Amino acid sequence: ARHLLGIDHLAPQEITTLLDLAETYVELNQRTVKHADALAGMTQINLFFENSTRTQSSFELAGKRLGADVMNMSVAHSSVKKGETLIDTALTLNAMHPDLLIVRHPNSGAVNLLAEKVNCAVINAGDGRHEHPTQALLDALTIRRAKGRIQRLTVAICGDIAHSRVARSNLILLGKMENRLRLIGPRTLMPAGVADLGCEVYEDMREGLKGADVVMMLRLQKERMDGGFIPSEREYFHRWGLDAEKLALAKPDAIVMHPGPMNRGVEIDGTIADDINRSVIQDQVEMGVAVRMAAMDLLARNLRTERGRVLAGPG
Ligand code: CP
Repeated sequence: ARHLLGIDHLAPQEITTLLDLAETYVELNQRTVKHADALAGMTQINLFFENSTRTQSSFELAGKRLGADVMNMSVAHSSVKKGETLIDTALTLNAMHPDLLIVRHPNSGAVNLLAEKVNCAVINAGDGRHEHPTQALLDALTIRRAKGRIQRLTVAICGDIAHSRVARSNLILLGKMENRLRLIGPRTLMPAGVADLGCEVYEDMREGLKGADVVMMLRLQKERMDGGFIPSEREYFHRWGLDAEKLALAKPDAIVMHPGPMNRGVEIDGTIADDINRSVIQDQVEMGVAVRMAAMDLLARNLRTERGRVLAGPG
């Protein structure tokens, strides 16, 4: 494929291939000298219309470690502030011949729309509540390293499911890999129709955590909530925040995940987040660089093949 816009179009074997390649980049990233040349001579533009710490910095590092020329477009100082549209911005950047465009946007579907207008490879770095494919892939790599497999696990995803592109991409990926999926959270934060996706749905967190291998916590995404939502943060933590007492209901070797940014004391107790025997949150960040290197490497290979065909001409 030319782009990575979501998990939907990836076959299980393609996911495995990407994770296997990412493993080689995990090893490279642990060396003192971290350079490879998979993107040598290529231009990568990071275009983030929404704030980011992990995704933007890891895409930047990933591109640089693979030898690309990386430009971080400063949207806050761009002509977007003068009213230029997403598509005009994309067409303007496209005219400068980037090879990879990494895009985050607050509107669901915006990145797919943009991908139709440009000649380069596009990676969705998170669009509204739709998809965040590289997050699901880095989560899969983290799970596979911790559990030795990415199949036949009971995975509990807890919290603000309704507004979460992370939950959506993870549900698609983990479902393709034949895991048992549980969604836990207040009814007001559970999207309609999730039971049809083959998930078990729980409002009672204690019930939902029983026997889980993986406990994936989600941030309350207030920026996507229109006004009223739930009880106070204090009450939310009491019912749906992960603390030692609730975690004890999961399997004794269950791992704790959170995509970040975290609200300590709201969806997760700080001591659980920092417990290196249970929490793999920092591993998720580490895997993020490796997975993004693998994703860009594979798309660059496809791009070279596609352009090679065009240069060779028909027949
Ligand atoms: N997990 C994630 O997407 O984090 P950022 O918003 O910091 O990129």
